[in-house]
Amino acid sequence: MILGLLKEPGDETRVALLPEGVKTFTSLKVEVLVEQEAGATAFATNADYEAIGAKVLSRADIFEQAEVLLQIQPPSDDDIQKIKTTQVWISAFNPLWETQLVKTFLDKGITTFSLDLIPRTSRAQAMDILSSMATVSGYMAVLEAAIKLPTFFPMFMTAAGTIRPANVLILGAGVAGLQAIATSRKLGAQVQVFDVRSAVKEEVMSLGGKFVEVEGATEDAAAGGYAVEQTEEFKKKQQQAINDHAAKANVIICTAQIPGRKAPLLIPKEAVDAMKPGSVIIDLAASSGGNCELTINNETVNYNGVSIIGQSNYPAQMPVDASRMFGKNVLNFMKLIIGEEGELRLNFEDDIVKGTCITHAKEIYNERVKSIIEKA
Ligand code: NAI
Repeated sequence: MILGLLKEPGDETRVALLPEGVKTFTSLKVEVLVEQEAGATAFATNADYEAIGAKVLSRADIFEQAEVLLQIQPPSDDDIQKIKTTQVWISAFNPLWETQLVKTFLDKGITTFSLDLIPRTSRAQAMDILSSMATVSGYMAVLEAAIKLPTFFPMFMTAAGTIRPANVLILGAGVAGLQAIATSRKLGAQVQVFDVRSAVKEEVMSLGGKFVEVEGATEDAAAGGYAVEQTEEFKKKQQQAINDHAAKANVIICTAQIPGRKAPLLIPKEAVDAMKPGSVIIDLAASSGGNCELTINNETVNYNGVSIIGQSNYPAQMPVDASRMFGKNVLNFMKLIIGEEGELRLNFEDDIVKGTCITHAKEIYNERVKSIIEKA
């Protein structure tokens, strides 16, 4: 196999594979081509890649020579024109939302894999880019909130008096939420947590957070550990409880999401009205609509002294470890499609390969994407 590692577009600072990852591909008999300056913003030079056996080429040459094209971000329109039907495109392109892009791949007969749809099974854990990136986001969200907040996170007893600890409210205790709890606790804050899945209660408590229970949540074991849509009655009860806690919070970290749907609205404008000026809301659900009504994706809104930060790409602010984790996940996934002689081997009997494959031979392979496209 000839693998082409592409430079990321726009403000993206990560790279899908650091030189340390390239080395493992070479040992699997895969030839690696790297686009010039692909690793520059993650502090990996062309020379670093060459030193471990990769060839550094122009983007045009990589599109010409590679069998598999690897990038974190989705392809641009220009890229789509250049991808050949014999090539495989691997990135994270959010196919549950980006249905037009899926249709384009389908029409063109391109083979694509979207790493954000790696199944949530134990075997696939080491390939799960969403978990890796959520770990970075949960950590960075708390650090940004701590810097923006005009008060301390920890309690201090000083000669100038006692400083009370910050109150942090965390909505959603998935991977990002749990990391946000751990980081807030390490910084000494008091942490309250909401989630609709009762299974997370113990994890929240073991990290030192207080789990706020609202009775009557709908849970579905068949949803693969994910949250499902809630009843109107539950939503009303939960809203009242969240509003009460929001009014006392100094920081709110929003992470609540439901795959393939708009993020649930949990902080309406009235709840922000009741917050203290100087408080900070970090909305990690910004790219899918946000948990706060006032969130604007990739912008900071100042509303009556409350900062509402809609940052949806924290991993790009920590490019080295984020790239390292992403690269390790990609490598673990790609081992499933690399044969003994380093050749491309697509085995659709494997549930991870099939579940991550979006389009191949003019068919949609991922069942959830297929049903969304069929209904559209
Ligand atoms: P996510 O990013 O999809 O959602 C974040 C959290 O928001 C979830 O805990 C969800 O229950 C919660 N949420 C959704 N709607 C809510 C509402 N209305 N109010 C309050 N909370 C709400 O979650 P993430 O991080 O992707 O994890 C979801 C599950 O998948 C977890 O159980 C996690 O342990 C599991 N998982 C499994 C993996 C594997 O086995 N390979 C890998 C990663 C996660």
